[in-house]
Amino acid sequence: MTHNRTTFATKLGVIAAAVGSAVGLGNIWRFPYEVGQSGGGAFLLVYLLCVALLGIPLITAEFVIGRASRTNVARAFKKLAPGSPWGIIGYLSVLAPFLILCYYTIIAGWTIEYLYQALTNGFAGKSPEVLKNEFVAFSTGTWQPIIWIAIFMAANYAIIVGGVKKGIERASNVMMPLLFVLLVVFCINSFFLPGGGEGFRFFLQPDFSKLTPAILLRAMGQAFFSLSLAMGCLVTYSSYFGDETRLGKTAATVAWLDTLVAVMAGIMIFPAVFSFGISPTAGPDLVYITLPNVFMMMPGGYIWAVLFFILLALAALTSTVSLFEVVTAFMIEEYHMSRRRALGWVLGSVFVLAVVCSLSLGPWNGLRLFGMDIFDIFDYVSANILLPVGGLLISLFVGYKLDRNTVYRQVTNDGRLRIGYFKPLMFLLRYFCPIAIALIFLSGLGLF
Ligand code: TRP
Repeated sequence: MTHNRTTFATKLGVIAAAVGSAVGLGNIWRFPYEVGQSGGGAFLLVYLLCVALLGIPLITAEFVIGRASRTNVARAFKKLAPGSPWGIIGYLSVLAPFLILCYYTIIAGWTIEYLYQALTNGFAGKSPEVLKNEFVAFSTGTWQPIIWIAIFMAANYAIIVGGVKKGIERASNVMMPLLFVLLVVFCINSFFLPGGGEGFRFFLQPDFSKLTPAILLRAMGQAFFSLSLAMGCLVTYSSYFGDETRLGKTAATVAWLDTLVAVMAGIMIFPAVFSFGISPTAGPDLVYITLPNVFMMMPGGYIWAVLFFILLALAALTSTVSLFEVVTAFMIEEYHMSRRRALGWVLGSVFVLAVVCSLSLGPWNGLRLFGMDIFDIFDYVSANILLPVGGLLISLFVGYKLDRNTVYRQVTNDGRLRIGYFKPLMFLLRYFCPIAIALIFLSGLGLF
């Protein structure tokens, strides 16, 4: 069945939307806290290797699947390999974005609270100690986080209901470049923080004694998470690509821009962490207890704080839009629902689970499995289990199941492009990615 699907209007629109999906809280909230908990520089190095050797080939593979099938993830696999069990990947691919949304929207909600604090000048004159206690009180509270989740969800509804072209593309085009400029300012500021040198060293100097299999797995999971990989987002987006979009080049551009943003976030955070005497292992709180201190130190801090939290909220929005779009496109095309109705179901169920996750940080903290609260379980399972499994299956699918000619036609735009990377790409997808992912995955879980 050929759908008359919409496609992105411009080349910039393609990149901005894919970068919009990739750049989000994963770069600015999750990356620094994972680096902090994993001991610094060695994690960064492994992370960069994962982006180059696993991330870029896998993004290209997802683009191939998306544009060759031009349909939602669940159906894409069935369409390209009819009657085979590969169709299961499609269903798996709807599960991960769903689980991610359940805790991602909480962090997005925190961002709005901090925007509100910034606007009302709520950080002024407070010591690092007080700022930290206030954050903990807020994030473990009952109602406030929930209200912000609801507001954030409403914004998602407004954008997604408008459809791909009008909503997503327009929103991404302006925000991404602006966020980038702002990060440059904060990175420069880091050089002027007293005692910040320690932070630079922590972040940039690899200490290999810190590398364990569990940390390798976390670096790979973080790379997949940050690149929006392995779970349908990129398949869904590329199903809207036009025929002239260069898949390999777009994949590399998206991957490196995303990585640049993560590295800049590290340079913004770590000198400050050490300068203000915050523990780098603070976990999910790290960014929220560090940044207000940074803003208060800067000349014109009020403006910087407001701008930063606006852009962070918007970056979160473009990422959740991409996550919601996967699940929504699935419901629309699979269950023949209207866009509004599908979105209603998806938003409603995510909201309920997000509330449960949020409460698990505070009032319901007693509820634990394997020593983790519900929030941590959602995060760990999606990033460190579902994403690696998805990545593995995608590399196998494009490497072995999909016929070589289809892949060739997609990456060369039907033979119109001359490319030199076809053979290396196939090698990575057939041998390197599956083996590396399987080894890291099994040893990281302690099964190997
Ligand atoms: N990459 C986004 C971020 O860094 C989050 C995200 C969007 C995502 N879509 C995804 C993660 C799909 C995994 C899979 O914030």
